[in-house]
Amino acid sequence: MQKFFLAPSILSADFARLGEDTKKVIDAGSDLIHFDVMDNHYVPNLTMGPMILQSLRNYNITVPIDVHLMIKPVDNLIPLFAKAGATFITFHPEATLHVERTLNLIKEHGCKAGLALNPATPLNVLDYVLEKLDLILLMSVNPGFSNQTFLPSTFNKIREVKKIIDSNFLDILLEVDGGIKLENIAEIACSGANVFVIGSGLFKYSNYELIIKKIRIELNQSYSRFVH
Ligand code: DX5
Ligand code: ZN
Repeated sequence: MQKFFLAPSILSADFARLGEDTKKVIDAGSDLIHFDVMDNHYVPNLTMGPMILQSLRNYNITVPIDVHLMIKPVDNLIPLFAKAGATFITFHPEATLHVERTLNLIKEHGCKAGLALNPATPLNVLDYVLEKLDLILLMSVNPGFSNQTFLPSTFNKIREVKKIIDSNFLDILLEVDGGIKLENIAEIACSGANVFVIGSGLFKYSNYELIIKKIRIELNQSYSRFVH
């Protein structure tokens, strides 16, 4: 059975108690933490910088942290996020002038590198850099806000990226971000994703443990429900 990773987006956490809320979702059974960085330039919203990431590390958050940069330009903030404790750093290719250089920069700073593709971004941006990637993030909403509706066009895109990864015999995580809920996670898993960002679909509940348990059941049953 394939391993599935749950990555709560703390954009939907209670920011007045960010450390505590983050710890709670980890204790409830999450695998990593998804950290959304927005700059009111690449996307029309403003969120968190490296200082907040550092504060979470200081608060003894030790799980991998998956930093999703929705910022333009990208390069100057990479050393700061790496130093603050990022595990993965993922960026949008159209937000940087030299994609390959930015990927190298992330690696040079000791982090794993990811590319994030918006719903309308074609897959050929992956050509020529595939072997440098540890993670591919497919946006299933347009970036900028939590609590949006999952775009069904993502299902085919997941299948296509999964085919590309497998046919090249590469070990790249396939992450999906936006509008994931208990109700659609099994179908997303069946399309080939193995990392699931979940913001409002988790934080809106008061009992994180219970909802994560239900999500795991959905994931474990996903193959029997969607593959015939
Ligand atoms: C959107 C962010 C997402 C968002 C997910 O731009 O990249 O990570 O927080 O939130 P939900 O799961 O509520 O769509
Ligand atoms: Zn994100």
